This record gives sequence, C-alpha cells and structure tokens, in this order.
Amino acid sequence: MRPRSFLALLGALSLSGDQVLAAGNLTSLVNLFIGTASGAGGASGGNAFPGTYPIPPISIAAMSRLTSLNGSMSMDDTGSAIPHAMAKVGIDVSTTPRQAGYISDNSSITGISLMHDEGTGGNIAGGYGIFPLFPLQNCAFTSCSVGIAARSMLRAAGKDAASPGYFTTTFVNGIQIETTSTRRAGLIRFTFPPSATPNNVVVDLTNDLQRSFHGGSLLITPDARVKLGGTFMQSYGTDNYTVFACYDFLNANPTPAALLQYGTYQSASTSSPANISVNPSGSSLVFPFTPNTNPTQAGALLSFNTTANNDRVTARFGISFIGPDHACANAEEEVPTWDWDGVQEASRSQWEEVLSRVQVDTEKEDPTIVELLYSSLYRASLVPANLTGENPYWSSPYPFYDALFCSWDTFRTVHPLLSILSPYEWSEIVNAYIDGWRHTGYIPECRANTKAGYVQGGSDGMPILGDFAVKYGRDADRLGVPVNDLYQALVDTAENTYALGDFAVRQAAMALDKPASDVAKYTNRSMNFVNHWDASVVHDGYKGFMQRRYANGTFAFSPPDACSPVDPTPHSCARGSDNNVGFYQSSSWEMSFFAPHSMSTIVRLMGGDEAFVNRTEHYFAKGYFQAGNEPSFQTPWLYHYANRPDLTALRLRRVVYQNFNTGIRGIPGNDDSGAMASLLVFHLLGLYPVLASTQFLLSSPFLSSYTITNALRGTRTRVSVNGFDSSTLLATPPSGSRLYVVGVQVNGVRRETVCWIGWDDLVGGGEIVIEVGEKPLEEGCGTGAAARPASLEDGGF
Ligand SMILES: *[C@@H]1O[C@H](CO)[C@@H](O)[C@H](O)[C@H]1NC(C)=O
Ligand SMILES: *[C@@H]1O[C@H](CO)[C@@H](O)[C@H](O)[C@H]1NC(C)=O
Ligand SMILES: *[C@@H]1O[C@H](CO)[C@@H](O)[C@H](O)[C@H]1NC(C)=O
Ligand SMILES: *[C@@H]1O[C@H](CO)[C@@H](O)[C@H](O)[C@H]1NC(C)=O
Ligand SMILES: *[C@@H]1O[C@H](CO)[C@@H](O)[C@H](O)[C@H]1NC(C)=O
Ligand SMILES: *[C@@H]1O[C@H](CO)[C@@H](O)[C@H](O)[C@H]1NC(C)=O
Ligand SMILES: *[C@@H]1O[C@H](CO)[C@@H](O)[C@H](O)[C@H]1NC(C)=O
Ligand SMILES: *[C@@H]1O[C@H](CO)[C@@H](O)[C@H](O)[C@H]1NC(C)=O
Ligand SMILES: *[C@@H]1O[C@H](CO)[C@@H](O)[C@H](O)[C@H]1NC(C)=O
Ligand SMILES: *[C@@H]1O[C@H](CO)[C@@H](O)[C@H](O)[C@H]1NC(C)=O
Repeated sequence: MRPRSFLALLGALSLSGDQVLAAGNLTSLVNLFIGTASGAGGASGGNAFPGTYPIPPISIAAMSRLTSLNGSMSMDDTGSAIPHAMAKVGIDVSTTPRQAGYISDNSSITGISLMHDEGTGGNIAGGYGIFPLFPLQNCAFTSCSVGIAARSMLRAAGKDAASPGYFTTTFVNGIQIETTSTRRAGLIRFTFPPSATPNNVVVDLTNDLQRSFHGGSLLITPDARVKLGGTFMQSYGTDNYTVFACYDFLNANPTPAALLQYGTYQSASTSSPANISVNPSGSSLVFPFTPNTNPTQAGALLSFNTTANNDRVTARFGISFIGPDHACANAEEEVPTWDWDGVQEASRSQWEEVLSRVQVDTEKEDPTIVELLYSSLYRASLVPANLTGENPYWSSPYPFYDALFCSWDTFRTVHPLLSILSPYEWSEIVNAYIDGWRHTGYIPECRANTKAGYVQGGSDGMPILGDFAVKYGRDADRLGVPVNDLYQALVDTAENTYALGDFAVRQAAMALDKPASDVAKYTNRSMNFVNHWDASVVHDGYKGFMQRRYANGTFAFSPPDACSPVDPTPHSCARGSDNNVGFYQSSSWEMSFFAPHSMSTIVRLMGGDEAFVNRTEHYFAKGYFQAGNEPSFQTPWLYHYANRPDLTALRLRRVVYQNFNTGIRGIPGNDDSGAMASLLVFHLLGLYPVLASTQFLLSSPFLSSYTITNALRGTRTRVSVNGFDSSTLLATPPSGSRLYVVGVQVNGVRRETVCWIGWDDLVGGGEIVIEVGEKPLEEGCGTGAAARPASLEDGGF
C-alpha cells in the first residue's frame, strides 16, 4: 500500500465543487419506498424496509429470564432506524408476502412492531415483527378488539411518509402513527382524534410476523411499564430465538397522557384463540415454552385519558436479546428524556453523515440518478445490525453483528462498498465474523435473529475476510482486528469448503506475509474450478459448461439452462436434497461465467475473446441473465475480460434502466440485505469490485463527478468525468453520445488501462479523471500487459 501523500491530501481537502455540498440535506433525497411493492403473484417485490428502522434453541438461561419478568425493576439488565441498528420500527401488513413487514399496498395493518429484516427473500410471512403495539379508540376497556384479526385497520390513502429516522401513517379511523428510533430503543406515538371515551393501546405478546409464538411472558407494573419476553422462529430456518422488550408510557415529553387503567388479555384456550377476554385486574402472563407454535392471543391493554389539549399517547421502547431488564436499561440509556425531536434529529444526522461519504452536486446531476444513489446508499447501510452488547450466547470483547444473511448475497457488493465508505463499521463487522468462527468453529454464513443459518451454499464469509486482509491488513491493529485470528478463521474454513474461498485465503496469505507454502497451496486450489468444466457439453451451439462431477471423474449432466429464468422444465433450485441440477439458485449458463479471480481462464475455455463475447451477448439475449439474482451481478461487466469495455458500458446502461427505478417496483428482486442497493451504487459510480483484491473494474459513470470519503485514511477522492454526456443516461444511449471511457488519469498521471483502477487510487485521496468519448479506444482496455483486469491464471494478483 502506498503511503498517503500529504500533498494528495491537501489536494483533496482543497477541492471546491462537490465539497460545498457537504453541508447539504442528503437525507431529503432518500426515497424509502423504493422496492416496497408486494411480491404477490410472482412479482418482484423488493421486500425493502421503509420504517424508521433489521437465533439457537431456547436456553435454560433464556427460559429462566422469561419466567423472572416478575423480578425486580432494577437496571441489571431503538421505520425508523439508524445505520446498522438493531431496532427497525415499522408497521406490519396483514397480507403476505411481507418479508419486511411493510408493503406499499392498501392492505390492513395489524401492528407497529420493533424489529424487521431488510430485503430478504425466504419466508413470505416475514421475520421479526415482534411485540407490536396497536391503538384503539371508542371501546369500553373489557370489550376492545384486542385480537390481531379483529383490530386490524386500513390506512387512509396517501398517508404513509418516511425519511431517514422517521415514519408515519394514519389509519382510516383518523389515528396517526409515528415512529423514530436509536440503536436498541425508540419512540412510537399515537395521535388520536377527539373522542369522549378513553384511548387504548394494545401491547401484543404473541404475534410476531410469522405468528410463531412458542412461549413467553409479560409483566405490567403500576407505573405503566410493560416487560415482555418471547420465543419465536427465525425468519427462515428451523431454529427459534428469544427476544425481550420493555415499553414505558408515562413520561412523554412534554405532556404525558394519564393512565386510567391497565390489564391483560388472553384467548380462552389454544383451541379457540379468537375467543379473547380482557382481564382488568391482570398484570402478568406466563406461557411456558412449547415445541409447537402456540396460537394464543395475549398481551396487555392500557387505557389513557387523552384530552383536547393532549391527544397523544407516546410509548418508549427498548429491545434486547439478553433480558427484559436489559431492554428497559437500553431504553433508559438511549432515550433518557423522551425527546422526540432529539431522537429523530440524531437519527437523521447519523444518516446524513453516512450518505455524505459519497458527495455529488445534487443540483447539477440527473435527479433520478441522485435519488437512486442516495436511496441505495441508505438501504446498503441498514444491515448488518450492530448487536454489540446483545449477544446471548457468549461473552467477548469483540463486536457482535447480526442479520448477516446471507453472506452469499452480500459478499459481492455490500461488503466491498463498506470497505470503501465505512472502514470503521466494516472492521467491526469483520471482527464479528471472526468471533463467530472463534466461538462456533465456522465463519458465520447466514446468521439472523441471532441464530446460525446455513441456508445458502459455501462459506461466503471467506471472500469478505480475504477482502479485508487485502485492503486493511496493514491497518488491522488500528482497527482492532486480530489478523492472525482472521487468517486462521480463513484456513479452518478453507479446509472444509471451495475455490473462491481458496482465493480469499491465498490473497490474505499474500497481504499478511504468511508463508510462501500457504500462498502456493491456496493459489493451486483456487484453480480447482476448472475441474468442473465439462468441455463436451453443448447448449444453444456453445460448447463447454460447468457441471457436477463425481469423485471418480465422471461428469453428471444437467441441462445448462436448468434453473435459469427461461428453464423450460421446473427444477428445484434451492439447497434441498431435491436439487438435482447441482447449481444453487443459478444455472450452469450463469455459473460457467463465475470465476472472478481468473476470468481469463473462462475466456480461454470458452474459445477466446470473440467467442466469449458472442456467448455473453447470447446469454443476455436469451434471457439467462437474472438482474435480481446475485450470481448475475458481475455478468454485465465481463466484456472487460475480453477487452471489450465498450460493450460493458452499453450493457450497464441497459441493465440499470431496465431493472432499477425510483418506484415501489424499483428493484429487480429482493433487496437482500442491501445487495441490490450496493450493486446499483457501484453501477452508478462506474465501478465493480473484484473480490479479495485491490482491483475495481471501471466503466462509464452515471454521474459527472463524485467524491468519496474514507474516514480511516482521512481521504477524499474526487472522480470526475471529462466530457460527461447526460444524453447517455438511457437504456440505449444515442449513437454518437460520449459513452466510452477513453482515458483515465490519477492525480494527473495517465494510466495505461481504462478497464480498472486500484484500491489505493480509490481511497488514496486526490483526483481521478475519466475521459469519455464517442468511440471506444481501439486498443480496448489499453496498452501494456496489465491493461486487462487481473486473472490468476495469467499471474495476476
Ligand atoms: C431537508 O429537506 C427537507 C425537504 O426539503 C426539509 O423538510 C427539511 O427541513 C430539511 N432539513 C434540514 C435539516 O435542512
Ligand atoms: C426451540 O428451542 C428449544 C430449546 O432449545 C428446542 O428444544 C426446540 O426444539 C426448538 N423448537 C423448534 C421448533 O425449533
Ligand atoms: C412473581 O414473584 C412472586 C414472588 O417471587 C411469585 O410468588 C409469583 O408467582 C411470581 N409471579 C409470576 C407471574 O411469575
Ligand atoms: C386494494 O387495491 C387492489 C388493487 O388495486 C384492489 O383490487 C382492491 O379492491 C383494493 N382494496 C381495498 C380494500 O381498497
Ligand atoms: C369464550 O370463552 C369463554 C370462557 O373464557 C366461554 O365462556 C365462552 O362460551 C366462549 N365463547 C365462545 C363463543 O366460544
Ligand atoms: C381526564 O382528564 C381531564 C382533564 O384533566 C379530567 O377533567 C377528567 O376527569 C379525566 N377523565 C378521567 C376519566 O379521569
Ligand atoms: C456498535 O455498538 C457498540 C456498542 O454500543 C458501539 O460501541 C459501536 O460504536 C457501534 N458501532 C457502530 C458502527 O455504530
Ligand atoms: C495443483 O497441484 C496439483 C498436485 O500437485 C497439480 O497436479 C496441479 O497441476 C496443480 N494445479 C495448478 C493449477 O497448478
Ligand atoms: C462414477 O460414479 C458415478 C456415481 O457413483 C457412477 O454413476 C458412474 O458410473 C461412475 N463412473 C465410472 C466410469 O466408474
Ligand atoms: C461471433 O459472432 C459473429 C456474429 O454472429 C460471428 O460472425 C463470429 O464467427 C462469431 N465468432 C466466434 C469466434 O464464434
């Protein structure tokens, strides 16, 4: 790594242009509703979470915590969301699919709950959605409709609104709902229309989004504090988790509503869950753990005297995976004074800081691109969630992060984006991956709801750790990341798993000065993917495909279009034992292009540059490309490896404009924990990361300039496009428009390649000038041996 030059830093800090915009209002550019359309009927719902913003068998300890809610009030034990928060508060719809709880439709709402997933696929009933509140008006205490079916309520048209740190909607009955939050706590308030009767709030113990209650308990104290604990099923996977919350109602600032009455409610029996009665003198409920889902409706009901001068009931909540008192302590610590505006502004300003790590001239650039950029940066920083201090399984000095699901989705673009923009956050996340290995023997792959989830194939935490070693290995001490443990985690996992992971170990071995024998071993193993190349398979006139192979060397044939979007035959493409294709959520057509560390090998196997280009064009034309699926992320960029960056530039315009927009259907698939969001950021910036390496593929940006901040390096790097042509901002740029990159200068020095730039260029501070023209360079990527992006087979990296 090149030491950062003082002059370069000065240069960066004295930039005019974009810098002026640093003090802007980038949060106002975020559209939280992108990707919130329903995925019903096979449509591509993004499952994005718009709210203010999100697991092991239940332990004996968790059980005893559950039954001790009755214990002390002591302190022993936050869509509204802040970056990487545990709390993600939002409303939950009654219809499925509802992976993130919220859907932009007209279905009724069943609750306002505290945690949510972001953009996941899987279980259509959703994950989390725990301990919802619900406001009720015009009912006598013991006859209020507390059950989930009876209480559900439609929203008034056009009332949903959200900005980073704030969410609101209004029911058709006129009750307004607002939320804001911190990392593990937050505020929810209800503004009631004038009414002669008291206003009530349900605190629901049993209904998470997937209605998977397996036991729990609740305790109300006379000061209107409600403590809850419950065991529910993880978002998908077979395990359950236990979670706790603490609600307070009486200290709203400035004017608390007066508590009139409280009690509990519960179903008459598990066989008649809808027959619910309110017990006006109840203050606790206990449901022992049951191996089967308990359908009971149960919770607390509180009644408030709101008046014409004070028509609000405000709830403060805290959440925890440790225990109920911990949840209360989190609320007291993070929202001590119930200062709504303070909490909302703190959230907004944290988001503002995260968004400002990429600065553009918001007046000058294309408004749609600006909206896509900042909305995507927002969604790319919701998860993983910082659960430090909330690890129920082991105690450790290292950070604990959750909602890693799945690394299979996030290793390609989420983590590389964090590597550039968020070095401190990323090193905490990397530490959490290492600590997972330290305590479980494996680098976590898909941990969610605090529970392991080996849901997707391989161990894709490996390229993430390898990428960290390559980019920040030398800064690791400063970042608190123990690199020897990182390396051991990689080696241990490599001894159990496969090729891209092996490349990650190889790269880490190089970056961390490990023995040459390790480098040689894992370099060799990185090339094992060629053993899956069956040169005899012909499909659509193209020869040679990746296939399954038996230990005796025989290939097992499956049709290369199996599990592609145009598969003529239904196949099972998930990880189950009924998958007889051999590819996970992808086809042989697609995976035959996947060796990002040695693409020249693939080009060679496919018959050379021209044949490779023909085949890539055919892949798109025939519909094997699937914009909403991660294995397709890099394919629009692959022309680079055949020396045709012009075709990449054309393809990227088409891919972006045909698959992304600012509407509720603006994401081509599940957002997948920010995977689509981070991919779009890279496309718009004209960059694509080569995993576990210092290379970024380079193409024609969708912006005339942008400035990237890296806080660890203390650098600002300005990328500008000389000759930027806004007429290229179309799926099919007009001929003669200046789309093609024809020159690259870094700090005034001309590069021999227009196809890639290095990590040190991107975070080194200074100026990168990309020159665009009407015609591509005749030499393709440029001149010199390193003009094309690196490949292991050619001695690259
Ligand atoms: C940001 O912009 C929004 C929308 O224009 C405006 O309502 C809000 O007050 C602004 N916030 C700040 C802090 O300038
Ligand atoms: C939930 O956890 C308990 C306690 O570890 C375990 O016995 C039970 O099998 C789990 N239930 C399910 C449905 O996973
Ligand atoms: C609460 O604690 C008391 C005293 O320890 C005990 O008698 C009672 O059964 C407990 N109630 C619940 C609901 O656990
Ligand atoms: C909700 O919207 C759908 C689709 O527009 C429509 O068919 C349905 O009637 C609406 N339902 C209600 C309750 O408004
Ligand atoms: C509801 O449960 C109560 C007992 O809690 C019972 O008396 C009543 O008959 C039940 N009602 C119905 C409709 O089943
Ligand atoms: C509600 O508050 C108002 C104003 O303080 C008071 O006059 C009224 O008696 C209260 N109602 C109840 C039921 O306590
Ligand atoms: C994560 O939470 C811990 C504990 O509160 C805190 O020290 C750390 O700064 C947080 N990390 C980020 C990136 O906010
Ligand atoms: C890897 O090592 C094996 C065993 O020594 C050897 O047969 C193979 O050719 C090597 N592969 C590469 C790509 O060097
Ligand atoms: C190789 O193994 C497969 C699976 O066990 C078997 O079907 C096939 O006949 C074997 N081929 C040879 C040449 O032994
Ligand atoms: C690529 O496609 C073109 C146009 O169909 C064809 O003329 C050419 O022969 C193909 N090249 C190779 C190497 O297959």
